[in-house]
Amino acid sequence: MSPRLSQKFTLILLAVFGGGLLLSGIALFVALNRLAEAEVQQQAAIMMQTMNAVRSYTSDHIQPQLADELAVSDQFIPETVPAFSAREVFETVRSDENYATFFYKEAALNPTNPRDQADDFEAQILTAFRADPELEELSGFRDLAGQRVFYTARPLAISDEGCLACHSTPEVAPASLIATYGETGGFGWEVGEVVAAQIVYVPAGNVVDVARLFLTTVLVIVGLAFVAVVVAMNLTLRQAVIAPVTTIAGLAQEVADDAITQEALEAPELEKVTQRSDELGRLAQTFRQMVREVYEREQRLREEVLALRIEIDETRKNEQVAEITGTDYFQTLQAKAQRLRQKRDDR
Ligand code: HEC
Repeated sequence: MSPRLSQKFTLILLAVFGGGLLLSGIALFVALNRLAEAEVQQQAAIMMQTMNAVRSYTSDHIQPQLADELAVSDQFIPETVPAFSAREVFETVRSDENYATFFYKEAALNPTNPRDQADDFEAQILTAFRADPELEELSGFRDLAGQRVFYTARPLAISDEGCLACHSTPEVAPASLIATYGETGGFGWEVGEVVAAQIVYVPAGNVVDVARLFLTTVLVIVGLAFVAVVVAMNLTLRQAVIAPVTTIAGLAQEVADDAITQEALEAPELEKVTQRSDELGRLAQTFRQMVREVYEREQRLREEVLALRIEIDETRKNEQVAEITGTDYFQTLQAKAQRLRQKRDDR
């Protein structure tokens, strides 16, 4: 009986704790993922902002300075191009090993510089931007060069006529540009057209790993605490409920088996239980009292039965004697004896 009760108890506790652990694990997992995502999103947003500042700086300050020179130079000056300066600045950032896994790209379907060619994934993003002019940002996770990264992408549109000086047709573009980049890519663009997706990649692996580690640590600690609680509850249950109940049940079994003894009534374990001040203690006291009365009554009954049996035996013996003496044979025998005695006396 004791293992059954404690097993049931353990099962219930495990179900409650297991469910709790599962739910809190899921909640924590979702929360940590959000946190990790917010963290990388933040990093990506800062980089994106910085890159846009570099682009503005190039078109507002560098290009005007070098415009005249560019017009006459037979050597193209890529430093005048926002896309170039942004990419170059970012490459400098990446040269620090802490930022080596960050990445910036102005992905185009028809790029001037082949390194800006959109891959399949980026092409999808770009297509989404081109299809929906309202769409201002797309972000999420992807695997890039075997690494889990978070990306933030924004549409890059031809903002003004000035862009068309180099991106309309090869005939219009500076000869030096054609000499450097050729006349295949980066042309045929129109004002207002989304020509590229400006994308910042931030390594997500680290943040995700930290989140996972945190999740695992918390779950292990909480799990261990749960196990400790189950063990403690079990020990308490065993000591406070199961042991005394087993003792009382043992006495009840003896009553059922009609095998109560004085020793059982005075057993030290039972004595201990009756001394408890709780409900079980009261139960044990009352029960022992009842059993004691049953025992004494039974004892008395036994004695009475014994006495009765002796009485019955006596009666039966008398009856048997009467039976024998009542028979015709005995009567005749008695009469015969009487006569013999008579004869003897007559002589
Ligand atoms: C002086 C010529 C010139 C002007 C003006 C110019 N670009 Fe470019 N653009 C280039 C060159 C050259 C590249 C390739 C840079 C490189 O090597 O990374 C380029 C690259 C780009 C790219 C990256 C994709 C690609 O084609 O490689 C985008 C996007 C872009 N330009 C958009 C613009 C926009 C928008 C404007 C107007 C605000 C603009 N450009 C004005 C010459 C120009």
